[in-house]
Amino acid sequence: MKTALILNGPNLNLLGTREPAVYGSHTLPDVEAMCAQACATHGFALDFRQSNHEGVLVDWLHEAGRAQAAGSLAGVILNAGAYTHTSVALHDAIKGTGVTLIELHISNVFAREAFRHHSYISPAAKGVMCGFGVNGYPLAIAALASLQAGA
Ligand code: DQA
Repeated sequence: MKTALILNGPNLNLLGTREPAVYGSHTLPDVEAMCAQACATHGFALDFRQSNHEGVLVDWLHEAGRAQAAGSLAGVILNAGAYTHTSVALHDAIKGTGVTLIELHISNVFAREAFRHHSYISPAAKGVMCGFGVNGYPLAIAALASLQAGA
């Protein structure tokens, strides 16, 4: 069974209390439970992580690249939070490892402030999911399953 690695960046540990009008009232453990259910449906093992530190996310992408090369990883779903809009390092890590990655945002970043309209992740991602609330997580897992199936 391959693993789906779900990486969450800065401030996503605050879900549930952080700007609920934008991000909803589910907590990150709630989201992890939703992901566990979706992974069970699609036949993935789940590895779900969060860090507020850019370099930790880079290290996890390197680890993901090695796991994908070894055949144990289906791909990564990355909600890079604000690093989406700032991080050349994350862009380079995705490109440098060649890992299959879906970019995810809970909110519709294109309907928000102009500084959220640019992503350093998108040009290196296989696809982008945004604006579906926390339901975007199980939707992205379904998308990863369809990529695995060659769709
Ligand atoms: C976010 C959108 C980003 O612009 C923001 O900085 C976040 C969360 C989202 O999930 O909607 O931290 O990635």
